[in-house]
Amino acid sequence: MRARLDFVVLLLAFLIVLQPDFISPSRFKFTNFVCDSVDESVLLVHTCRLKAVRRDKTTLNFNGTLLKSINKCRVHAQIFKRANGFKPWLYNITIEACRFLRKPYEAPVILVFNLFKSFSVFNKTCPYEGSVYVMGFYLMAEQIPVPLPSGEYLILIKWYVKDLMMISTGIYFSFEENLT
Ligand SMILES: *[C@@H]1O[C@H](CO)[C@@H](O)[C@H](O)[C@H]1NC(C)=O
Ligand SMILES: *[C@@H]1O[C@H](CO)[C@@H](O)[C@H](O)[C@H]1NC(C)=O
Ligand SMILES: *[C@@H]1O[C@H](CO)[C@@H](O)[C@H](O)[C@H]1NC(C)=O
Repeated sequence: MRARLDFVVLLLAFLIVLQPDFISPSRFKFTNFVCDSVDESVLLVHTCRLKAVRRDKTTLNFNGTLLKSINKCRVHAQIFKRANGFKPWLYNITIEACRFLRKPYEAPVILVFNLFKSFSVFNKTCPYEGSVYVMGFYLMAEQIPVPLPSGEYLILIKWYVKDLMMISTGIYFSFEENLT
């Protein structure tokens, strides 16, 4: 009888520990969003900021106006991870954005684009002129499609039109894996 009770207690303990909610609360949080080196002959920036909508939910918001019709835009993206300052980490990628919008290529860029596409104006092909935005973009840790070590990250994205930088955007976020 005693042995059976011990077994039941052990079984219950296992069931509680194995509950997905108990195991998996990883946490993703945008921590800063900056727009630099804006070429105001090409782009006006109205909004470049994070917005805390709940304690655990921060959205990223960008709203701008393109003053010229853009048919080619080179995008250089690099990821940094903090370790005594931000150090280059894993990806350093250059793509041609208009080609990408016609037919997505470069797997890591596709993964990231799929996360924010529905919050943005980028659901069509070039040319782009006038309003460009990513509004109310937020991310839950569970949506991150690849294993990610806990840490502070920066995704630095530089946008070039005709070899001149149009804007540099820095997206800072923290990720904590499997909190208990
Ligand atoms: C972007 O800003 C412009 C100018 O302030 C505004 O008219 C427009 O509605 C904004 N767009 C979005 C998606 O918020
Ligand atoms: C990343 O790529 C850019 C452009 O291709 C290059 O200038 C830079 O040196 C590269 N950085 C690293 C750390 O590889
Ligand atoms: C893109 O999204 C906008 C706003 O959600 C919508 O009005 C438009 O029809 C969409 N365009 C395409 C090509 O899906």
